[in-house]
Amino acid sequence: MQATTDGGHALCIIGSVMAENSAGSENEVGDLKGPILVVGGAGYIGSHTVRALEEKGVPVVVLDDLSTGHREAVKAPLVQASLSDRAGLAEVFAEWAPRSVMHFAARCYVGESVTDPSIYYRENVINAWNLLEAMREADCRELVFSSTCATYGIPTALPLTEENPQVPVNPYGRTKLHMEHMMEDYANAYGLRYAALRYFNAAGAANAGDLGEHHDPETHLIPLVLQVALGQRDEISVFGDDYPTPDGTCVRDYIHIVDLADAHLRALSRLQAGAQILACNLGTGDGYSVREVIDAARRVTGHPIPERMAGRRPGDPPELVSGGTRAFELLGWRPQHSDLNDILADAWRFHRAHPHGYSD
Ligand SMILES: NC(=O)c1ccc[n+]([C@@H]2O[C@H](COP(=O)([O-])OP(=O)(O)OC[C@H]3O[C@@H](n4cnc5c(N)ncnc54)[C@H](O)[C@@H]3O)[C@@H](O)[C@H]2O)c1
Repeated sequence: MQATTDGGHALCIIGSVMAENSAGSENEVGDLKGPILVVGGAGYIGSHTVRALEEKGVPVVVLDDLSTGHREAVKAPLVQASLSDRAGLAEVFAEWAPRSVMHFAARCYVGESVTDPSIYYRENVINAWNLLEAMREADCRELVFSSTCATYGIPTALPLTEENPQVPVNPYGRTKLHMEHMMEDYANAYGLRYAALRYFNAAGAANAGDLGEHHDPETHLIPLVLQVALGQRDEISVFGDDYPTPDGTCVRDYIHIVDLADAHLRALSRLQAGAQILACNLGTGDGYSVREVIDAARRVTGHPIPERMAGRRPGDPPELVSGGTRAFELLGWRPQHSDLNDILADAWRFHRAHPHGYSD
C-alpha cells in the first residue's frame, strides 16, 4: 500500500489498523515485539520511554552518544555511539537485530538553531538520514520519530490541529520537518512505516522520582521554576506579559512525560500491526499560562518563587495548544497524568531527589 498524503500532511490511514484501533480499548497499548533500538534513550523523553517499554517486558537497546543524555538514566543495555558513525550504526543493527527503532536524538534549542544552524542540519538531518540508511540496509522498517509542534510555525488557528500548515519559523523546526519529509519519501520508495509524533511541551517526571528532566543548559519553564524553589536561582524570568492571552503571559500545552511515553508504545504497536504512516500531535488540549505554571509551582513547593518581568523573546507565539482528536483516533491514546499539579508534583519529587540533576 502506498503512503498517502493530503496537501503535504501525512495522513494515518490503513483500514485494517483503524479497525484494530477502534476494536481496541483506549487503555490497551497493544502487542509489542522487540528488540527495540532507542536512539537518544539516555535523554529526557527517551529514558522515560525506555522505562515504559521495559515495564511491558519489551527488550530494548539504547544507542546514545551521551552528548546531552545521562548514563544514570539508562538501565537497559547502552551502546555509547553517535549517529554520525555509520559503520558503528551498521554494527549495532547487525549485533542487536532490532525489530523497530525509536528516534529521540536531536539538538533542540530553538535560539541556538538560529545562531548556529549548521549543528542542526548535521544532527537533526544528516545524522537522521544516517539512521534511515542503516535501517534500510538492515531491512528494519518501523520507526517512531520525535517531531514537534515547532514544525507548524505560527498557528493559523487555535487550538492547533494537524490541519495547520507546517511552516516552521526557525531552523530547529525546519530540520524536524525535513525529517518528516524524508520519512514520507522513504515510506513511498522503500516501505518504511513511521510515526511522526509532534510533541507540545514535555514535562514532569517518573512518579518514582528516579527519572526526570536534566538539560544543560535548561531552557524549559518547569525545571527553571523548580530551580528557584530549590534556591539555585533567585527568580524566574517571565518573557512578556502583554500578549493577547487572559493574563498576558504565553500559554503552552504541557504533556506529562509518562503520557508521552505511553503514546510512543501505542504508535509502535500500531506500526508493528501494519500501519504505514501515523502523524499526530501529542498534547492535552489544555493551555496554561506562564503565570499559572508559576502559581501552581508555588502551591506544590510552598516556595514564594519570585518572578522578574523580562521583555518578549522574538518568535514566541502567544499561545500553542494542541487541538483535534487524531492521536486518540489513531492510537487510542488519551493523556492520563497531565494535570498541571500532577506534572509539577512529579517534577518536584525528581528535582528534590536530584537537586543538581543526574550525577553524570
Ligand atoms: N523536550 C520537549 O519538550 C520536546 C518537545 C518537542 C520535541 N522534542 C523532541 O524530542 C526529542 C527528545 O527530546 P529530549 O528533551 O528528551 O532531549 P534530550 O537532549 O534530553 O535527549 C536527546 C538524546 O539524544 C542523544 N543524542 C544527541 N545527539 C546524538 C547523536 N548524534 N548520536 C547519538 N545520540 C545522540 C543525547 O545524548 C540525548 O540523550 C528531541 O528530538 C526533541 O527535538 C522535545
